[in-house]
Amino acid sequence: MASCTQVQVTVIGAGNVGSSLAQRIAEKDLADVVLLDVVSGRPQGLALDLIEARGIERHNRKISGTIDYTDTANSSVVVITAGLPRKPGLSRDDLLLTNAKIVRDTVRGAIAHSPDAVFVIVTNPLDVMTYLAWKTSGLPAHQVMGMAGVLDSARFQTFIAMELNVSAADVHATVLGGHGDLMVPLPRYSTVGGIPITELMDQATLDRLIDRTRNGGAEIVELMQTGSAFFAPASSAALMVEAILHNQSRLLPVAAYLQGEYGLNDVFIGVPCRIGCQGIENILEMPLTESEREALHRSAQSVRQNVDRALELLGNT
Ligand code: NAI
Ligand code: 2OP
Repeated sequence: MASCTQVQVTVIGAGNVGSSLAQRIAEKDLADVVLLDVVSGRPQGLALDLIEARGIERHNRKISGTIDYTDTANSSVVVITAGLPRKPGLSRDDLLLTNAKIVRDTVRGAIAHSPDAVFVIVTNPLDVMTYLAWKTSGLPAHQVMGMAGVLDSARFQTFIAMELNVSAADVHATVLGGHGDLMVPLPRYSTVGGIPITELMDQATLDRLIDRTRNGGAEIVELMQTGSAFFAPASSAALMVEAILHNQSRLLPVAAYLQGEYGLNDVFIGVPCRIGCQGIENILEMPLTESEREALHRSAQSVRQNVDRALELLGNT
């Protein structure tokens, strides 16, 4: 007899990213969704709102809201979007410590009920939080990854498409490194219909698009004034969830734990990985020029310093 068990994804944090992600997962018919938040009422209300659109959106996915981790049991994927954004008056250390504690608590809550899940981390600072999530979980490194490279590459893809007046679907853009000012957009590996963009625009234009990509999150914060981007981040996380649930072996840039790859050790940072139902199937080592490699190492060095700072702050609590 066919099994009626439905695949389930838990999204922790029912804020802007989490609620948009729950919508994408259900409406793409990827899985049932459990939305969990620390604020009672919010995840339940959002889940009901999403359910009331089912007849219009024509899907039968279950969506539930909760503050209780037992409701998340046996999830195949857990996505952590819980955390504070940067606010006036909140120092970088305050934010680092607050989000580190949130990520630690949410990972502990989730893993107790879904020990086999693949964890996708979204909370900022992304590469640091992914490291802490992995440390807290005790999971093999391939079961934990961070979402940023898909978003940063999507932004670069968009700006290239807008500049050349071509469809974004024909643009493949590659951004490696940490999710911050030191991210590493790679024009040599970014193409339009297979043609490297270095053949299609001059250096000044390339530099402008690279700067805009590095500043992509801040540009949106500046426009919105309160809150940060969530539609494209939710789409990016949904793409990763789909690659995992459908065992697609997709090559995506994700924050992965490096153990010698690219000459880096004991750090989570954005690199191209093959993603399937086990999580990270393998890490692809792209040949880099000396300056590209240096840029990746600079970015990793900054992530590592923040991991050390976060561990120090956590150690004092
Ligand atoms: P938001 O403020 O709209 O939502 C955060 C949610 O987390 C709130 O509903 C809050 O109640 C919840 N929360 C806080 N502590 C919790 C806990 N202990 N357990 C469960 N839920 C808890 O923020 P938004 O816009 O959804 O962003 C969420 C995080 O994702 C932020 O850290 C943001 O910087 C980050 N982000 C990362 C991106 C990336 O590329 N990696 C892109 C966009 C956002
Ligand atoms: C972004 O890049 C805030 O990390 C977030 O939009």
